[in-house]
Amino acid sequence: MKTPAHILDFKAHFPLLINKPDLVYFDNAATTQKPQVMLDAIQHFYQYDYATVHRSTHTLSSDVTHQYEESRKNVAQYIGCDQPSSLIWTKGTTESINLVATILQDSTISSSSNIVISDLEHHANLVPWQQLCQKLNIELRVANTQQFQHKIDAFIEAVDQDTYIVACSHVSNALGITQPIKDVIKLAKKYNALSLIDGAQAVCHLNVDVNALDCDFYVFSAHKMYGPTGLGCLYIKPEQQSRFPPYQFGGEMVKTVNYNNTVFNDLPHKYEAGTPNIEAVIAFGAVIQFLQQQNLTLLQQYESELTRYLYQALKQRSFISLYSPIDSQNIISFTLADWHPHDVSELLNNMNIAVRVGTHCAQPVMQQLQLTNGTIRLSLCAYNTYEDAQLFLRAIDSLEDFI
Ligand SMILES: Cc1ncc(COP(=O)(O)O)c(C=O)c1O
Repeated sequence: MKTPAHILDFKAHFPLLINKPDLVYFDNAATTQKPQVMLDAIQHFYQYDYATVHRSTHTLSSDVTHQYEESRKNVAQYIGCDQPSSLIWTKGTTESINLVATILQDSTISSSSNIVISDLEHHANLVPWQQLCQKLNIELRVANTQQFQHKIDAFIEAVDQDTYIVACSHVSNALGITQPIKDVIKLAKKYNALSLIDGAQAVCHLNVDVNALDCDFYVFSAHKMYGPTGLGCLYIKPEQQSRFPPYQFGGEMVKTVNYNNTVFNDLPHKYEAGTPNIEAVIAFGAVIQFLQQQNLTLLQQYESELTRYLYQALKQRSFISLYSPIDSQNIISFTLADWHPHDVSELLNNMNIAVRVGTHCAQPVMQQLQLTNGTIRLSLCAYNTYEDAQLFLRAIDSLEDFI
């Protein structure tokens, strides 16, 4: 198999990959590499445009504020949200989920309520709910998908009229399973429950349309979709926007303040207290524009083909046990004979191949699979080539002699 020219063109935008031509980078679910446009946007911002946003009225500041809000518009549009004010900047997926869990805590959850999550969640979409349930002494229900069958049945069993929120990943980071989120959101609505979708592993690889999904919250991180670190997004559906209290207090999130009272600002500012990560927002806007110039359908098709190719190749090797499904989204989780995944990672690393090993911030998933040491995880994206895949397979085969 040869890598198509349009993929090589795409890869050419990523300086680190060009500067390290021998590197096989298969750790994209942890974080992706960055295109030149992002580096240029950061450099340009500090060299020519640097100022703060929203507070000052001088030209530099109003220009930066304009760029900052244009980024919000671009990112909102990218996920099918026609109201940019519904998109809040956070530090990442983790902070977005913690923000929602915090504002719900201060709302009216009754003592008979329950919160439902799936059994495929990253700790970021588990621990905040677990802690909230413990604090309020309410039930945390885990939809048991029975060996990770991506079916709605498990949610039908778990959700009822007392469910306050259903929090579910769009794509599982440990195994690459796409969850039936459309049905999960519909089910939550049927019981008047809120829905939060953790899209950290989805937005880079799938078309996301929050309007069509009709979820209450959708969260993701910029750094997992070619963007900068330290920036996350939280989409809040318009109907839910005035329902919840602020998350943090300080500048920017207020309209008027006196010693007795504060009137809070409207969204998005109400949830953006303090000076934000301006550099990252502007850089992310540049990345989104860059992505909009690509043929995303072709990139997505290619990612799926490369994932299938590697999956089938690994399946043919008797010393490999696969834990991802055949239709996995860009992720292949496996073990090699009875080797500790860390040993595999070290040997692969010696051959310039970067993979992630361990329990992938999803210990309960690994516990269900009875894999105390976790798995080896390949996570691919559109700049990975067939040559990368072949180098990886040769590396894996070279380990077989030592089994
Ligand atoms: C599904 C999922 N949710 C949440 C997170 C947390 O993302 P972040 O560390 O960017 O906050 C990750 C990160 O790997 C993830 O894969």
